[in-house]
Amino acid sequence: MNRNDFISENKDRFLEELFDLLRIPSISADSAFAGDVYKCAEYIASQLEKAGADNVVLEKTVGNPIVYGDKIIDSSKPTILVYGHYDVQPSVPDELWNTPPFEPTVKDGNIYARGACDDKGQMYMHLKAFETMMQTDTLPCNVKFMIEGEEEVGSTNLGIYVEANKEKLASDVVLISDTGMIANDIPSIDTGLRGLSYVEVEVTGPKIDLHSGTYGGAVGNPINVLCDMISSLHDENRHITIPGFYDNVEIVSDADRAEMTKTPFSLEEYKSELDVNDVMGEKGYSTIERTGIRPTLDVNGIWGGYTGEGAKTVLPSKAYAKISMRLVPNQTSEEITQMFQKHFESIAPKAVKVAVTPHHGGEAAVTPTDSKAYRAASRAMEKTFGKKPIPTRGGGSIPIVALFEEVLGLKTVLFGFGLDSDAIHSPNEKYGLFNYYKGIETIPYFYEYFSEEK
Ligand code: BES
Ligand code: MN
Ligand code: MN
Repeated sequence: MNRNDFISENKDRFLEELFDLLRIPSISADSAFAGDVYKCAEYIASQLEKAGADNVVLEKTVGNPIVYGDKIIDSSKPTILVYGHYDVQPSVPDELWNTPPFEPTVKDGNIYARGACDDKGQMYMHLKAFETMMQTDTLPCNVKFMIEGEEEVGSTNLGIYVEANKEKLASDVVLISDTGMIANDIPSIDTGLRGLSYVEVEVTGPKIDLHSGTYGGAVGNPINVLCDMISSLHDENRHITIPGFYDNVEIVSDADRAEMTKTPFSLEEYKSELDVNDVMGEKGYSTIERTGIRPTLDVNGIWGGYTGEGAKTVLPSKAYAKISMRLVPNQTSEEITQMFQKHFESIAPKAVKVAVTPHHGGEAAVTPTDSKAYRAASRAMEKTFGKKPIPTRGGGSIPIVALFEEVLGLKTVLFGFGLDSDAIHSPNEKYGLFNYYKGIETIPYFYEYFSEEK
């Protein structure tokens, strides 16, 4: 039987299995779900084994287990290391979901569920593509699977595992479907990921909440001060004001920037999709450049004082914010976090105390377009989409990718099939049935072309 026939014959089962996976609330950020995270790892392991992998194991870590499995058909042939993650982001705010986040539902050709696109749907395509190759006797090379459960919380334990298992993981390329493409009729391949520095700040004023009439205007209000401090982090051109922040930023050549303008993009559609009247960002750069090649700083959450019903007059004792910075090549997460910390402490008025706590971080990664692996990915997409994919720079982060290069000496292919409109990390996350099946169909061509590319 040929592969396409096998995929059509097993279409419904492929979807049901994904649904079973999506029903497990494997939220890594919330320890209340630790049991589900473990169950999810077990499910992946059993499905990987059923698909035909050997040596399947749940690799224990001090955190969530890593699922490993492989199929070595001939050690003289190339080896592909497939990476994905089975953990998902929290589903909150649950009331904004039209259907429950862990009851996958198909509507208008899309699967709605937390993790549908990021990354269960995309990761599971690899298991089904592998099963398809096994069942049709078309697996052309070796493959190793490494599916982790802590991507959404920084992959700390995977980093330790990779360091300790260099030999076991030795391969020729890393293949990951955990990014997106421009549109279903405009295939593209991400050639970069940004790095990340994530910090939490705490601003303390008086030792207790005070009456805002008795003390307001005379004692530093930590929320007022925090807002001042945050707003001073950008200047009028939306440049970041932290001293040294841009020192190591990779300068993208005019030629490369000119190339980027060829990426199909409609600012009008972008704005209407997001329901905003205008965009906003660093002066001198286009929207595509702002998310692809420039570093940014965003407040992800801010809280403090009274937020309950009605009005309570209070001068709060504390204010908090979670702040992330997306980084580009040559900036390092550790350096940027230190710069932030030093700067933030230095701009605090004497009336408050400031504490900066670093969270996880990660380095940017750029993937080459002149490699055998990129050519194989490009040919595979061209084969199944009928169009050559466009290389693009993605704005998100997968910190472990930089580590694959540093520790294993491996380059990555970001073979993503999601769309920006899939609402990853948001309510009503979805993944297209078209994308799921297209991925399953396209992945084996990557194996085939990668094995034959010289
Ligand atoms: N799959 C995403 C990364 C991504 C999204 C890359 C869209 C390109 C386009 C991944 O699961 C993710 O969400 N990463 C986090 C970083 C992590 C350290 C929490 C991110 O980008 O915020
Ligand atoms: Mn992901
Ligand atoms: Mn994610």
